[in-house]
Amino acid sequence: MPKSILVLLKVLVWCACLWAFVNLVWGAATNNLGPDPTATITFSTGLATLRLLTISLAITPVRRLIPKLNWLIRFRRLLGLFAFFYATLHMLTWVALYAGFDVNAMSVDILKRRYITVGMAAWLLLLPLAATSTNWAIRKMGGKCWNRLHKLVYLAAVCGVIHYWWQVKPGVLTPLTITLVLGVLLLARPVLAWSQRRRVRTVPA
Ligand code: HEM
Repeated sequence: MPKSILVLLKVLVWCACLWAFVNLVWGAATNNLGPDPTATITFSTGLATLRLLTISLAITPVRRLIPKLNWLIRFRRLLGLFAFFYATLHMLTWVALYAGFDVNAMSVDILKRRYITVGMAAWLLLLPLAATSTNWAIRKMGGKCWNRLHKLVYLAAVCGVIHYWWQVKPGVLTPLTITLVLGVLLLARPVLAWSQRRRVRTVPA
């Protein structure tokens, strides 16, 4: 791919990733975050986390299906780091605006409200992935070990979706679309690996 196109794509991906954040900052600066700004910030950062996680998980299956799109791999780390950025903003919104930095209230929330427990688990699973996202960490850990650790992203995404379902009102189906997309992506991995093994076996020596 020509370098100029790659630079343009990088700029577009950065703009798309920053969109939710810029919207929130603009909304806060212009006093335009709706009747419940805390809920707006929580919803927007939570959704951005799930969307970015899902898009980053889609990159490997898409590359396997369409080898011409191999260049997408250049954006996976960026998308994953932005997912962690929004997850951290989301978690800090809870720390500051829901719990008011009260450690006791936070502990009770984590222990007693299952959607907070599983949300926290998702954030904690993303933490080592973000911490080992540098080239230095990949070299130090070795590709195999690094890849094994980074499989945790699937578990984090599943915890994120469960967290979403557990705090919407009964009968509300807003998390359905992202759940279906994630389900397809989780299934795609073993299915594509199986079909690749089959192809290798049927190619005559
Ligand atoms: C990967 C991690 C996470 C993802 C993907 C995620 C996703 C979401 C989403 C999409 C919502 C919006 C639901 C709605 O308003 O309809 C939400 C709400 C919420 N999340 Fe998370 N979340 C994550 C982690 C956390 C963590 C670590 C905490 C705090 C410990 C947390 C606390 C909350 C709270 C308090 C709400 C608002 C619930 C309400 O409206 O009563 N989340 N989350």
